[in-house]
Amino acid sequence: MAGILAQNLPDAALQFLYLVAGVLFIQGLRDMTHPRTATRGNQISAGGMFLAVIVTALWFDILSPLVLAAALLIGGGVGVWLAVTVETTEMPQLVGLFNGFGGGASALVAGAELVDTFNGATAVTTLPVSLTATAAIAGIIGSVTFWGSLVAAGKLQGIVGGSPVSTNVGHVIKVLFLGAAVIAGLVLVIQPEMVGNSPIAPWIPSYWVLVGAASILGIFLVFPIGGADMPVVIALLNSYSGLAAATTGFVLGNTALIVAGTLVGASGLILTVIMCESMNRSLTNVLFGGLGTDDGESKDMEGIYEGQIQETSPEEVVMLLETADRAVVVPGYGMAVAQAQHAVAELIELLDEHGVDVEFGIHPVAGRMPGHMNALLAEADVPYDKMRELEEVNPTFSQTDVAIVCGANDVVNPRANEEDGSPISGMPVLNVAEANTVIVNKRSLSPGFSGIPNPLFARDNTSMLFGDAKESMQELVNDYKEATD
Ligand code: TAP
Repeated sequence: MAGILAQNLPDAALQFLYLVAGVLFIQGLRDMTHPRTATRGNQISAGGMFLAVIVTALWFDILSPLVLAAALLIGGGVGVWLAVTVETTEMPQLVGLFNGFGGGASALVAGAELVDTFNGATAVTTLPVSLTATAAIAGIIGSVTFWGSLVAAGKLQGIVGGSPVSTNVGHVIKVLFLGAAVIAGLVLVIQPEMVGNSPIAPWIPSYWVLVGAASILGIFLVFPIGGADMPVVIALLNSYSGLAAATTGFVLGNTALIVAGTLVGASGLILTVIMCESMNRSLTNVLFGGLGTDDGESKDMEGIYEGQIQETSPEEVVMLLETADRAVVVPGYGMAVAQAQHAVAELIELLDEHGVDVEFGIHPVAGRMPGHMNALLAEADVPYDKMRELEEVNPTFSQTDVAIVCGANDVVNPRANEEDGSPISGMPVLNVAEANTVIVNKRSLSPGFSGIPNPLFARDNTSMLFGDAKESMQELVNDYKEATD
């Protein structure tokens, strides 16, 4: 039925308004590629989505303006509440859930469109392949994304076990359920002629068999993945949610959904490739687990700390910094948890003022989301030319007097390069041990995300500065000011 917009605007206006929404999505994505313009990019994209939702709802008379306003208020309210209450360190889980909801919604909408089209048919009919094939694809990708994302979010939240496990039985189960989903999809596509409303229409069970099989596939795809591969999986699921939405756009014949879904799918895929390259991993390895399975050596390694740990104090670190020509700060997840970025930024500024050549060494997966450290440091007004990427900073550690590791662990763990079979094997790390002195600031000797001990803490040139990152960095700032006044 024609809605209020369709009654008052020419037909071409719908595609024009969708085009405007598409341009806003593209401009928003473009702005999001740099921390300086990322906030604006977010707002522009949100504006595009708002326009697409309003136009769709009012053009096709899907909802009355009153119900639409109420839905926007409730949905927007939940969004604002999440934005205000969720910590930045919990963002990856939230993004994981959003990916999952996108996939789940796509599978449900594709199914609903099949039911709707079939119920609307009054005579003997065959559903068009363009509808059944796209619905089958949306159902498979959407269901894999929904369940895979729930498992991924559970792993990041620590509700589901995070250790990687790779078994042949797991691979067989994946192949079986993928096969079942594909066969159910084929049954849906090559359906016999049927009468609308027939209670024995074969596509009804086949679509839900497809959804069920793809759901189990999604769980088994993500469950065995853990450790350093989680960032890649989240990026891949993000891409899947876009692909599911784009395919549902074809099911509905909705241009805005096709454009938005394709943009999410493509950008998610680019991010997946970047993440794979950063982690020195192939996508096949991530999905089917060649590396990344712990060999049980972790527990034996606990002994490496015994009698080997040297502790230091803020006063001693300041004495080192007073004589240093070059220092590198390596931030990690602990800096984000402690919200220590402002204290770290102040320390860097002070060192800079006193002629120390000081930079940040930023690992691509430090923290819990892509660009996590860059975003926090940008928030603390750290100049962009002070942030060096892994490939740029690694060759400089041998000329560095002091490397300060602030709440990082896995991204400076030499086991990644020195042995096979650990959850981080093969991942490039920041070679801080090549600096003259390494100061590691964290609260204890606890492992990081991958759950394995870090031999860096026991090296001869490493000293542990135990304590909360924000408090420790603030103490360094105060003591350095006192010492240099
Ligand atoms: P982690 O290896 O997770 O280590 C962080 C360390 O911070 C912990 O060992 C913890 O030790 C310390 N910490 C926690 N709270 C602290 C506080 N208040 N003050 C000081 N230290 C604190 O972090 P990382 O080195 O940044 O590595 C990131 C890991 O997360 C990688 O394994 C990566 O694969 C994974 N991951 C990354 C992403 C993305 S996209 N970035 C997504 C998912 C997973 P204490 O408890 O002893 O203080």
